[in-house]
Amino acid sequence: MRLIMWSNALLILALAFSGCGETKKTDKYYDGEALIKQKCASCHNLDMPPKISNDEKAPPMYTVTVHLRDWMKGGTSSEKEANFVAFVQSYVLSPSKENSYCVKEVLQKYGLMPSQKGKVTKEELGAIAEYALRNYEQQKLLEIMKEQNRIAAMKPYEQVLALKDCKLCHINGNGKVGPLFSQIAAKYTSKDTKKIKDAIVNGSKGRWPNYHVPMRAYKDLTPKQLDGIAKWILSQEK
Ligand code: HEC
Ligand code: HEC
Repeated sequence: MRLIMWSNALLILALAFSGCGETKKTDKYYDGEALIKQKCASCHNLDMPPKISNDEKAPPMYTVTVHLRDWMKGGTSSEKEANFVAFVQSYVLSPSKENSYCVKEVLQKYGLMPSQKGKVTKEELGAIAEYALRNYEQQKLLEIMKEQNRIAAMKPYEQVLALKDCKLCHINGNGKVGPLFSQIAAKYTSKDTKKIKDAIVNGSKGRWPNYHVPMRAYKDLTPKQLDGIAKWILSQEK
């Protein structure tokens, strides 16, 4: 145990030092995705597709980005994008009615955005704006919605197999990483549906002596998906 901790400590030290050398050479790296979540999500919805709620404090970031990019001056799309980044950098630090591109009704509904001076820097806003340009796009929205519709049309158990990694261990693993679904079905009957569901929601360990790595918990499945996958697993007996 001591030995493992010691070698971990050495590894961390090694990583820390190599990290140091790098930051000296290059500019500081700003993670636009992390920053937008940290600094803008309290007012702007960040989802794709955007979620619109009655008590929202600001228009969703998708709407803001797509409309602003359109309204920016510039002949080419890269000029428009550069102007978008510059606009976000200046507007967020000093918003004003005169500079806002929002239509009057929008400004009336939400009020002017409070200045974020002191909460976010110009450099951070640059990274946020670049991220927004890449992430909030009509084409991307269409693709995401198409994929969501494809998943929504599936049976609940198929949704689980498409969205989660169960197959990796329970089908493709040939019984090496986890018991095959057919083996699980052979061990239990339909009376055990609740037990199966609990194992998926809470994770499982120690029930299958041949496997030493426990299975993690899957907490975010809907009741329908959970019920569907449990019944489907129990129907897999060969
Ligand atoms: C306290 C709430 C609040 C926070 C936090 C906030 N905003 Fe806003 N934002 C608003 C409101 C309200 C509006 C709409 C009115 C306006 O344009 O001023 C808005 C509008 C905008 C606009 C559109 C301006 C226009 O003219 O169309 C941009 C761009 C923007 N916000 C970017 C950001 C970014 C980037 C962040 C995070 C660094 C952020 N906002 C954080 C409330 C907020
Ligand atoms: C990383 C590999 C891995 C993944 C991914 C995985 N499992 Fe497992 N699963 C296991 C292992 C290993 C066991 C045996 C654990 C034990 O000994 O209790 C197990 C056990 C089970 C059991 C039996 C539990 C019991 O009480 O006997 C069910 C049901 C199950 N998994 C369903 C799923 C479903 C559904 C998914 C996807 C949402 C999934 N597993 C994803 C490895 C995995």
